[in-house]
Amino acid sequence: MSGIEGKVVAITGASSGIGAATATHLAERGARLVLGARREDRLNEVVDRITEQGGSAVGVVVDVTRRDDLKRLTDTALDHFGRLDVLVSNAGTMAISPFDELRQDDWDAMVATHITGLLNGIGAALPVFRRQRSGQFVNVGSTAAYVVKPPQAVYAATKTAVKVLTEGLRQESGPDLRVTLVSPGFTHTEGVGKGGSPEAAAAAVRQRDEIAMPPSAIASAIGYAIEQPDGVDVSEIVVRPTVQA
Ligand SMILES: NC(=O)c1ccc[n+]([C@@H]2O[C@H](COP(=O)([O-])OP(=O)(O)OC[C@H]3O[C@@H](n4cnc5c(N)ncnc54)[C@H](OP(=O)(O)O)[C@@H]3O)[C@@H](O)[C@H]2O)c1
Repeated sequence: MSGIEGKVVAITGASSGIGAATATHLAERGARLVLGARREDRLNEVVDRITEQGGSAVGVVVDVTRRDDLKRLTDTALDHFGRLDVLVSNAGTMAISPFDELRQDDWDAMVATHITGLLNGIGAALPVFRRQRSGQFVNVGSTAAYVVKPPQAVYAATKTAVKVLTEGLRQESGPDLRVTLVSPGFTHTEGVGKGGSPEAAAAAVRQRDEIAMPPSAIASAIGYAIEQPDGVDVSEIVVRPTVQA
């Protein structure tokens, strides 16, 4: 199987930003989608928009920090479409702050969402992919895993974990599976400046409004990785605005 048409793709964090843009991009190219996020109303808006335009999508309320929720996401793909070809692990939170503010709930949320959430996705999808003898993990990292800047250390550390887990998974995946890391730079989404310290959030929003690229730029990169033939693994893509240092 190659291309995007007909593939069953589950996406976490599909209620806004990069996840929603990826859902739209893939639906326009004939993918069948299972979309997960916590905000049911926002998720339903994405599902309805895709369905109204003739696409195929189901929504599942999912908190990626819960193991059972990821299982429900992959089970929905199997129940509705009979298979799962790709899991895009995209859910994330960019609640950045200086260490001195001790925003430990935000630290915990980033660890739980990016690391435990990613592992929960692997735990749910890997047995399915092994049974099918095909499947692809697409994990959304960040350029923060390549260049650490204050006050992003915790965020950068969790995204570094995403990078390391993705590479380790790729090395263990064998000839039947594909594993891709897509690392965005500054992208214009509502998640930039959400949570974290007010000062850090305001600075992030200012920078986003000056230099960020549209989420469609990341959606196309994810689409590129998915549309390659079975034996071709696009292992890593970094996409950043030209003006981002
Ligand atoms: N925007 C950037 O500049 C940028 C740069 C590098 C990397 N990234 C990464 O790109 C990914 C998407 O972020 P975005 O920029 O598109 O921001 P966004 O619009 O805020 O999207 C984040 C998505 O993740 C979902 N989410 C958060 N926590 C979740 C949880 N526990 N369980 C399930 N879903 C959860 C949110 O939906 P609910 O709230 O409805 O659950 C939302 O759909 C993140 O991993 C982020 O770290 C973004």
